Amino acid sequence: MHYRPDARDKDLLPHDPLKAIVAPRPIGWISALSAAGDLNLSPYSFFNLLSSPPTPIVVFSSEGRKDAVSFVEETGEFTCSLTSYDMAQQMSLTSAPLPRGQSEYAFAGLETAPSEMVRPPRVKGAPAALECKLLSVTALHDLTGKPIDRYMVLGQVVSVFIDERCLVDGRFDMTAARTIARCGYSDYAVVDTLFSIQRPPGG
Ligand SMILES: Cc1cc2nc3c(=O)[nH]c(=O)nc-3n(C[C@H](O)[C@H](O)[C@H](O)COP(=O)(O)O)c2cc1C
Repeated sequence: MHYRPDARDKDLLPHDPLKAIVAPRPIGWISALSAAGDLNLSPYSFFNLLSSPPTPIVVFSSEGRKDAVSFVEETGEFTCSLTSYDMAQQMSLTSAPLPRGQSEYAFAGLETAPSEMVRPPRVKGAPAALECKLLSVTALHDLTGKPIDRYMVLGQVVSVFIDERCLVDGRFDMTAARTIARCGYSDYAVVDTLFSIQRPPGG
């Protein structure tokens, strides 16, 4: 079948399949401070790494101008903690629409851990976290140029935290970290098995 994203048959496809098609997506658990010092934490699965070292760049995108975007705009820094299977329920709790000034950390029973190079903390207990400085916020628009109230945030990773329990033979082992990914609908995935393929010479 084919369908148009703006006019799908809701009898055939009662729930939008697109986020299950472009999946699994990593979850950036974004933490940022406002200019007034309010602390925010919320999960973003429109999140990815766009560039590798020496200039690693991450992206996340907000549907509507949510606190994560406005806080990052105000103070220019954020952290992306990676969430594990053990912390999945707490991660979900931090997506609650709390009033500005009420911290999702306390709401979800989470603690902060200090960052090294930026002011916003990371989530204590998360298997890995990226400390980022803001590069740009872009308001997205559609094919006609109409603004669509989506905001794409790019940040440069200036420091990386890895919990040593996730290091196996000098590698970050995601089966040890049990990082989770978003799969559309209410579904998530955790990676239990990896396989390797060597790239062609020169690749
Ligand atoms: C797993 C998961 C992934 C999410 N991904 C996004 C996303 O990529 N973009 C977005 O705008 N909202 C996303 N949300 C919803 C936000 O986390 C939610 O709206 C949150 O309250 C935003 O908080 P903030 O206003 O404090 O930034 C996601 C929620 C969950 C549970």
